[in-house]
Amino acid sequence: MTATTYVVGNFKGGVGKTKIVTMLGYDNAVIKKRKTLVVDLDPQANASQVLARTGNIQTIDKTITTGLQQMDLTDCVTPIIENLDLIACDTSFRSFTKFVIKNFDDEVEQISVLAKLLQPLKENYDDIFIDVPPTISEFSDNAMVAADYSIIAFQTQEESLDGVKKYVGYQNFMVERYGIDLQVIGILACMLKRDSDFDESKMIEAKELYGSSVFDTVIHFQERLKTYSRDGIHLNVNKNGNYEQWDYRAHKVFIDILNQVEARKQYLNS
Ligand SMILES: Nc1ncnc2c1ncn2[C@@H]1O[C@H](COP(=O)(O)OP(=O)(O)OP(=O)(O)O)[C@@H](O)[C@H]1O
Ligand SMILES: [Mg+2]
Repeated sequence: MTATTYVVGNFKGGVGKTKIVTMLGYDNAVIKKRKTLVVDLDPQANASQVLARTGNIQTIDKTITTGLQQMDLTDCVTPIIENLDLIACDTSFRSFTKFVIKNFDDEVEQISVLAKLLQPLKENYDDIFIDVPPTISEFSDNAMVAADYSIIAFQTQEESLDGVKKYVGYQNFMVERYGIDLQVIGILACMLKRDSDFDESKMIEAKELYGSSVFDTVIHFQERLKTYSRDGIHLNVNKNGNYEQWDYRAHKVFIDILNQVEARKQYLNS
């Protein structure tokens, strides 16, 4: 195995990045049965909290901050459920920028710390999903260098589509300046309201700008997805042996995205 690494980004906050990372991570592990690692690089630690709840884990004592100090992440991997592991984050990781600047003089080394740390772990996984804070920072630079593909999340509101433009522009800058190997695998609309003309028009605008890079599958606002943030992610099976219908609806869209990501990956590689 050599894992394929994905970063889910947008320089606008609250657009659904963490939701996408945690749901894709869960469905990749549970439905696709692929060995999956979620790396939380955001000191807000939302992905870590959701996944800890998902695995009924009360406290996580091994976070990425410890791994960074040791320059070895192998000891700070937390198993969540079968096929799904987490490298958790917490507020102490806000010192990442200081650490990097203090310990590495060279600009290229400073943005390659995460890639270097993840390299030995790649043999253990099929896929790695990285969650980042919504800032242009050492965090997002390191995630871009470590990733093979980016999934750009956006909400159908003005600033969020601007966030996509900024993200694409910045990614192109990183590719040109540092020669990193990173491609946009898809642009994904999140939290769309059904039957909203405004959301519909923003979706058309996104397609005009980015064509087939925009996934046809969109993530609608769903109460069930919201409750997973509070209760942890689940996919319950009822007495008949079928998935509980609201759980299934919530997961289906992410399973579709995983299928499309796989198809696009094959296309981009061919
Ligand atoms: N499709 C959805 N349906 C319902 N609620 C959603 C959906 N997607 C995200 N949410 C909720 O919206 C909020 C913001 O989502 P999320 O945390 O994923 O955004 P983010 O882009 O990661 O934010 P940040 O930039 O702060 O990291 C969360 O409370 C989440 O539970
Ligand atoms: Mg987030």
